Amino acid sequence: MILGKLRNFIEDKILTNPCFGKNQPLRSDNPSFLPSLNSLKKNGYCNVGKLLSEVELLQIRKKMTSLSKNKKIANFNKSVNYIQFNKPLLIHPAFTRIATNPYILDLIETYFNRECYLADVDARRIYAYDVNEIQKNVGYTSSNWHKDSRGRQLKLMIYLTDVNSNDSNFSFIPETHIPFFSRSKNNVYRFSDADVNQIENEPIEWLGKAGEACLFDTNLIHRLRRKKTASIRDSFTFYFTPGQELRHLDLDLGLPELNKNKIFSGAENSLFRPRIKY
Ligand SMILES: [Fe+2]
Repeated sequence: MILGKLRNFIEDKILTNPCFGKNQPLRSDNPSFLPSLNSLKKNGYCNVGKLLSEVELLQIRKKMTSLSKNKKIANFNKSVNYIQFNKPLLIHPAFTRIATNPYILDLIETYFNRECYLADVDARRIYAYDVNEIQKNVGYTSSNWHKDSRGRQLKLMIYLTDVNSNDSNFSFIPETHIPFFSRSKNNVYRFSDADVNQIENEPIEWLGKAGEACLFDTNLIHRLRRKKTASIRDSFTFYFTPGQELRHLDLDLGLPELNKNKIFSGAENSLFRPRIKY
């Protein structure tokens, strides 16, 4: 417990702090780079457009439907009515390609001004559910307003199905990622509706087409807004950090060249923990 707190303190205050005096080299020359980076810094999020083709989306949804019947791969959580898939990178090679996308990695590493790593991945199929019912049955979940407690982290979230106003959507309050929320302060990561009502900025309900993606700082106050009226929502999320909270990744062995990208390796600085297998 004390060691864990000390580790968080060192990671948050020293190891993941933006480096001064040295910028990360860029790999891409996308004209959207500067406006997106500025939005990420100021608002805590930026839109990165459509990352999957219609053909890939069809293949992915078909694969997820077939995997959803396999209990070794699909973990159905009855209390919150969604499926979480094991080994998400094996669902489709496009996900490994996206994890190594030069433009996205440039945004992430310039934002943190640090070398970064793919810390974790998550693929979900979410069914309709009333948030009040979840609260009644399970108590506090990611459907309530919160900040993630993994230190400096960006998530790249891709909708794999169209998300309209009747559907369950990712929701967040812009500019709430500043100041950085250190894990060593025993701060509260949960926020009530009353807390959120006191914040000047209005929540943004992210609606979008299948294949569209956004980058978010997970220190933004956010929630997964579940709705009773929702159609099935599939999503894929990549978590990037400057080296802390790295989880074991099951890589797609059919992509040896892409897998050499250092984003998938352990952190270079040996003060970070090796990747953890759960
Ligand atoms: Fe979260």
